[in-house]
Amino acid sequence: MLAGKQIVLGVAGGIAAYKSAELARLLVKAGAAVQVVMTRSATRFVGPLTFQALTGNPVWLDETASEDAMPHIRLGRGQELILVAPATADLIARLAQGRADDLLTQTCLARECPLWVVPAMNRQMWQNPATQRNLQQLRDDGIRIVGPAEGEQACGETGPGRMTEPQDIVQELLAAMQPGVLAGQRVLVTAGPTIERIDPVRALTNFSSGRMGYAVAQAAVEAGAEVTLVSGPTCLQAPAGLDMVRVESASGMFAAVMERVKDCDIFISVAAVADFRPAVTSPEKIKKDAAPASIALLPNADILAHVAALPAPPFCVGFAAETSRLVEHGEAKRRAKRLPLLVVNQAQQALGSPDNELLLLDDRGEHLFARTDKLSAARQLIAHIAQMLKPPVT
Ligand SMILES: Cc1cc2nc3c(=O)[nH]c(=O)nc-3n(C[C@H](O)[C@H](O)[C@H](O)COP(=O)(O)O)c2cc1C
Repeated sequence: MLAGKQIVLGVAGGIAAYKSAELARLLVKAGAAVQVVMTRSATRFVGPLTFQALTGNPVWLDETASEDAMPHIRLGRGQELILVAPATADLIARLAQGRADDLLTQTCLARECPLWVVPAMNRQMWQNPATQRNLQQLRDDGIRIVGPAEGEQACGETGPGRMTEPQDIVQELLAAMQPGVLAGQRVLVTAGPTIERIDPVRALTNFSSGRMGYAVAQAAVEAGAEVTLVSGPTCLQAPAGLDMVRVESASGMFAAVMERVKDCDIFISVAAVADFRPAVTSPEKIKKDAAPASIALLPNADILAHVAALPAPPFCVGFAAETSRLVEHGEAKRRAKRLPLLVVNQAQQALGSPDNELLLLDDRGEHLFARTDKLSAARQLIAHIAQMLKPPVT
């Protein structure tokens, strides 16, 4: 099922490197052409000859790299995927920093293909805030993290950090390579907060990080859709493989959406668009002693309501952050805007947080997804949308 696919398998220096030999065997068995790159410390755990024998290709090492012109550039080109398994805590830290101090990190940095990372380490190394920070950075950079599994560890402890079993990695790979559930669909997503200027240095905004919208956009790309992401100001990097449009204010977002909405099939409004803007934006910085006692506000246009009310609207999905009575408030919003699907989340728990609990409201009722990281939640949402768009069986 992987016939004709070229895969770079990166192996780092952890105990689980021995499992990587089985992974190489399974990938080759499924038809992939596998090139293995080992870190110097990986060779202390497993011999390169093992991988050479299993893949039928010479193994790339820091020492042998100098025999070839630009292997770090060439290796990441024309590949279906770079799969690093096991990925050590150290390698994850180096990838998070964009370092290029050996052939494997150089290849990852110069790649033109997706990168999947399969962590394997002691549970305390895994749970350490430094490792979790680095992993979050990788996710924000569009890198897919596979696992880890929980259970008995080589060090004798029990907990999260075991490398995902090779057959499960191959299963996940095969699933990702199926034609996506949104193949052929054009999806427009909004994300992030908006900024409404009071003067050149002050503004009204909100606590949205943009993570949920970016995750939805990434999940839609993974599902095979052609995706445009219209984003308010965030610190996040654009996920790979989509068209990115950056805006600042609610009116900027409104214009960017209206310009593109006629070319989309699905509109997913995740952005926390400011409901109000200052009635007047001062062109000069307002002096401290001239501070107004109050700021008059004007309502911003409701982008989602506008799109949903178009004569031929796309399939519209709204996001609502509520602080109480989620179902009641959410359902009232969904009906008022005539949306096929509304996603409600608890504002206090969702804004700025790395994970989320989504409550979906549609004509069939309520669907609650358990709290998980935002990308996993986004993948579940995309699967639900694809299900809703399926023609009914007659
Ligand atoms: C016996 C032994 C086992 C190790 N196992 C792991 C492991 O499972 N996961 C991990 O992240 N680091 C592990 N380490 C530490 C890494 O080998 C070390 O951080 C190394 O610098 C990683 O290099 P690399 O990321 O370039 O492969 C282990 C070290 C030793 C000596």
